[in-house]
Amino acid sequence: MPKSRKASGKVQTVAAPPFSRSLRKGGNADGKIAIAIMAAGKGTRLKSKHPKVLHEVGGKPLLAHVIAAATKVVPTADVYAIIGHEADRVRAAVAHTGINFVLQQPQKGTGHALMVAREALAPYDQVIVLSGDAPLITPETIARLRDFHASHNAAMTMLTAHLQNPTGYGRVLRKSAKSDEVLAIVEEKSASPAQKRITEINSGFYTFSTATLFRYIDQLGTANPHGEFYLTDMAAILRKAKERVVAVAAEHPNEILGGNTRAELAEIDQHMRRAKCEQLMQDGVTILYPQTCVIDADVEVGADTILEPFVQVLGNTQIGSDCRIGSYSVLNNSVIGDNVILRPGCVLSESVVKAGARLGPYSHLRPGSDIGEGAHVGNFVETKKIRLGKGSKANHLTYLGDAEIGEGVNVGAGTITCNYDGVHKHQTVIEDGAFIGSDATLVAPVRVGKGAYVGAASCITKDVPPDSLAIARGHQIVKEGWVKAKRQARGGTK
Ligand code: UD1
Ligand code: CA
Repeated sequence: MPKSRKASGKVQTVAAPPFSRSLRKGGNADGKIAIAIMAAGKGTRLKSKHPKVLHEVGGKPLLAHVIAAATKVVPTADVYAIIGHEADRVRAAVAHTGINFVLQQPQKGTGHALMVAREALAPYDQVIVLSGDAPLITPETIARLRDFHASHNAAMTMLTAHLQNPTGYGRVLRKSAKSDEVLAIVEEKSASPAQKRITEINSGFYTFSTATLFRYIDQLGTANPHGEFYLTDMAAILRKAKERVVAVAAEHPNEILGGNTRAELAEIDQHMRRAKCEQLMQDGVTILYPQTCVIDADVEVGADTILEPFVQVLGNTQIGSDCRIGSYSVLNNSVIGDNVILRPGCVLSESVVKAGARLGPYSHLRPGSDIGEGAHVGNFVETKKIRLGKGSKANHLTYLGDAEIGEGVNVGAGTITCNYDGVHKHQTVIEDGAFIGSDATLVAPVRVGKGAYVGAASCITKDVPPDSLAIARGHQIVKEGWVKAKRQARGGTK
């Protein structure tokens, strides 16, 4: 048992954005509940050079999901992430959420994580403790834990789950099968064979009355196989001190799954994506073979849009209504208007596609592409940092980079904007109604005026005035009878 404890926790507060009050209990309007998210561990079982809580499921870090749930229950200013291993990286990845950070250095166990957060948490009446590696937790379940604690007048309330395979988890020893009261939590490594048969497990989510927690937390010891301060030991300590320790079982056991191994991360990712597809389908989106689609947590899709098999919709992508997204398309952080058709195999990053546009098959929109209303971008067309105006078309085998293209422009097959001189990038401007013949090369900086024509296979190096025709290619020479004369000279027929 440690006689003295050195709290090395440093608290940093960042300005908090507004939060949703829907799950906040009216009686706690004075904000006396904090949420502490334990996120300092290394994640040894992942065998990774990256910190565990930054491993991604559903397209974002484990910790980001837990923060999103927490900030729906208490104001962001009352959420504390306890970080330690690779703390700077973890902090940088989620600092934008506006939560607070407490530094746990070194990491001596889940109990120690709460010890170092004492100074930050002591002003609160109650603290809800979440695990930064268990991202399926919902705001509703956190609120249930909070309410169960209040209605049972407990010092410690833990969330539990009944699992078919409880291996690896801490087991919950209830006073009796039907009792809400808990005697202790036994970690897998210390459990007797009989205790290992208990299928009710400790989820790693708790709530404590802070005064009671910090009155007894120094009684935690390290006499266990890991030599760590286990937060789970608080159950037996509080019990011995005649404090009330209770457990409430999760309605959906999947919610407590933690990502300790790559296999568990894959399982959580699948849960999350299946739930995302189900939610979108409930909202009126058709998903063909949803088990083949990869849709990130923050994606939005409008009603009557159809996602074909093997589509990936990633990041903050928003897709409008009545669209059709063809198989093997990958959309990342892009905004798609209504009535857009993506034929199969389109790859879009950080791009905007306005209503009624048609893309693909196999169009590649790189960052900064803005495709206008009703515009067409066809197969093997690559774009980057361009604006393609309303109703304009670039249908075949073309590269358009650093270009401002007006409305009603026709870009012929094989057109290339030569935007790079080896040192700098230059801009191409094609004004409204211009017609660019096939196989044209437009050497930037260059401007093709309104309504102008560029002859096929031209290499345009000078501006083309409006309504004019520019042809810049070798003249065709025809030598009549040349082949016949050669043939006769050889004395043959071929
Ligand atoms: C923990 C519980 C176990 C429970 C399981 C549920 C303990 C001793 N055991 O085990 O009863 O069944 O969760 O998933 O608590 N962390 C810190 N600082 C540390 C150590 C860990 O912040 O010093 C963080 C980790 O980053 C992680 C969380 O606490 O996010 C849980 O730690 P982890 O090592 O994953 O605990 P488990 O072995 O899963
Ligand atoms: Ca864990």
